[in-house]
Amino acid sequence: MRLAGRVSLITGGAQRIGRELALALARRDCAVAFTYHHSVRQARATAREIEACGVRALPIRTDLSKAARVRQLIARIDQVFGRLDILINSAANFDRVRFDRLTEHDWDRALDTNLKGPFLCALYASRLMRRQPHAKIINIADWAGVRPYKDYLPYCVSKAGVIGLTKALAKELAPRIRVVAIAPGPILPPAGMTAAAAARIAARVPLGRWGSPEDLVNTALFLLEGTDFMTGSTVFVDGGQLIA
Ligand SMILES: NC(=O)c1ccc[n+]([C@@H]2O[C@H](COP(=O)([O-])OP(=O)(O)OC[C@H]3O[C@@H](n4cnc5c(N)ncnc54)[C@H](OP(=O)(O)O)[C@@H]3O)[C@@H](O)[C@H]2O)c1
Repeated sequence: MRLAGRVSLITGGAQRIGRELALALARRDCAVAFTYHHSVRQARATAREIEACGVRALPIRTDLSKAARVRQLIARIDQVFGRLDILINSAANFDRVRFDRLTEHDWDRALDTNLKGPFLCALYASRLMRRQPHAKIINIADWAGVRPYKDYLPYCVSKAGVIGLTKALAKELAPRIRVVAIAPGPILPPAGMTAAAAARIAARVPLGRWGSPEDLVNTALFLLEGTDFMTGSTVFVDGGQLIA
């Protein structure tokens, strides 16, 4: 699929991995709508960077865990662009909570944003995307969806759900819309992680390093541009973590 002239929606696109995905699409002449929640300043800066590539940016502030807000988000994209070719579900939260301290709130917070959010986006976006012959959805999962981290139970379950959601959506939406997932290993350390903790993680990765946003972006570009014969699959970009 050629990206030039298409319209994309990246959730969590203001900063970090979502921003890198948004800019990669903008550099290929694809218009970018993106969501943010609290990162107002970063969203403005990212929108400027997208527009500097010569394509339209549409930053939309929303809470992806609320169905009414997601419906409004898709309606706004329809109003502005009248089409949607690509959805990348990247927004998520990543909260560490020891098992004996977990509450219902922790569970709901992870599942509502990380799993219900991509479901709602796919549900409402697919109604708009169905009009395009080659539309694609990419869900950003995590290798921890199949090999859970300790102390991140709701997060890991949400990402296991994203892998399941990818398969189920692929079946529901074939042949019109292709749905795939990327399960990254360590790509960008969360805010506040010490250099020593990051080095310990790198030492456990068979390829001996953190991945880069470029590793993930290149995979997304391959899934969008390089093949039209994948759906339901999850691609692990994890430096070999799964075989460690
Ligand atoms: N970083 C890694 O190494 C790594 C590894 C494996 C998997 N992943 C996955 O890759 C994706 C991107 O990772 P990242 O580290 O770049 O993510 P991140 O910085 O932790 O979060 C991405 C964005 O999600 C948005 N968000 C959170 N809750 C939201 C809600 N309720 N409604 C709307 N937006 C919400 C936030 O927007 P605001 O900032 O605007 O509030 C945030 O900027 C995530 O799905 C993550 O699980 C990342």
